[in-house]
Amino acid sequence: MRSVEQFEVTGGARLRGEATVAGAKNSVLKVMAAALLGSGTTRLTNVPDIGDVPIMSEVLRGLGAQVSGHAPDIEITVPEEIGHETDYDHVRRIRGSVCVLGPLLARAGRAKVALPGGDAIGSRQLDLHVTGLERLGAVFDNAHGYLVAEAADLRGAQIWLDFPSVGATENIMMAAVLAKGTTTIDNAAREPEIVDLCEMLVGMGASIGGIGTSTLEIDGVDSLTPSEHEVVPDRIVAGTWAFAAAMTRGDIRVRGASHSTLEIVLDKLTQTGAEVTAYDDGFAVRCEDRPRAVDVVTLPYPGFPTDLQPMAIALNAIADGVAFVTENIFEGRFMFIDELARLAADVRTDGHHAIVRGRERLSGAPVRATDIRAGAALVLAGVVADGVTTVADAFHVDRGYQSFVETLQALGAQIRRVPDDVLL
Ligand code: UD1
Repeated sequence: MRSVEQFEVTGGARLRGEATVAGAKNSVLKVMAAALLGSGTTRLTNVPDIGDVPIMSEVLRGLGAQVSGHAPDIEITVPEEIGHETDYDHVRRIRGSVCVLGPLLARAGRAKVALPGGDAIGSRQLDLHVTGLERLGAVFDNAHGYLVAEAADLRGAQIWLDFPSVGATENIMMAAVLAKGTTTIDNAAREPEIVDLCEMLVGMGASIGGIGTSTLEIDGVDSLTPSEHEVVPDRIVAGTWAFAAAMTRGDIRVRGASHSTLEIVLDKLTQTGAEVTAYDDGFAVRCEDRPRAVDVVTLPYPGFPTDLQPMAIALNAIADGVAFVTENIFEGRFMFIDELARLAADVRTDGHHAIVRGRERLSGAPVRATDIRAGAALVLAGVVADGVTTVADAFHVDRGYQSFVETLQALGAQIRRVPDDVLL
């Protein structure tokens, strides 16, 4: 027997009140890795209190860094000489940890990085990371579950990405800042978390042009100096609360997030009939009636984020009408639909398309979180379902949402954590 936790949700609440958003998971892991690029002490603020941060801290400690403090403020002290080998047990748990590859090649000239784990949302290859770093002069080998690379001398190069991969852009960028000469990355990702990483690197003394565009031009420098950096707010968490308001016919004021990073998401919610108000420090979403169905297509930023696709399907499951949802980023992201179907949602899939026929209400049942975002979407579905829904494997959600249960309780949801004894 193994004792883990599950969420127990009793449906029916209309969520009202305030939710404050912490720093972004998808940014903090990368800026923590970027600290490896300069010897000395980096200070990070607005660090979210989520499960992935202590795991990333262990990855950095394994490379010789000291990590102290606690969210929202941590310090990372990096020695002149750093290690080059990451621990398999930690890296396999979070995909974000693969972003140490670029910094290790730049600082140590070699890297042995366990092939990462993370969410089970389909094949998440590393070919774009590898091809880009090879262009800069790295030589790769793949053995026994590890990616092994050496780079005696990194040199700037012209790199075209086949797809604007977030992780590949970050790794290439973090190697290029210390390479000799100029690197151009075309078709680069331009997510707000990439902009945040660029700003951290510039604060350390890097020279990066085209920040926030799909062409990044990086002039390598000899060394970088640690700095202080505030992590950008988590737009996916903010978007989750926006969906929560629209789904539950509620009224939620989201603080600490920028509505400009969620324009397409908030526009979709307006199309469902919700009223969206922008403020300097966030936004509010209010919905009086049953939401109307809305079509969604996921795309790289500034398109609709794949991380909010499960919330879009959950909303459409109780909306008035039929919606067409297309997933273009991760093929495995529809896996959670089998779980949603246990709550009586009417969703059919064909490849990367889903047709969702809205029902007046869902029906509470035991389900299982398959990844961070699917877990959050299943909990929201539980809030609009009749009776009790249990969402097993709560740890997935805790990897990316700070004070998830407490926030929902403050908004009026009936939710608690309960032990779940699993037979091994
Ligand atoms: C990051 C985010 C994740 C988000 C995703 C897309 C982190 C820790 N995770 O993941 O939450 O959903 O961006 O916004 O920041 N691909 C390749 N080869 C590669 C790299 C990627 O084929 O070398 C493919 C992937 O399999 C996937 C697509 O490209 O189908 C997008 O991946 P990518 O943008 O790299 O996402 P991640 O950085 O893994």
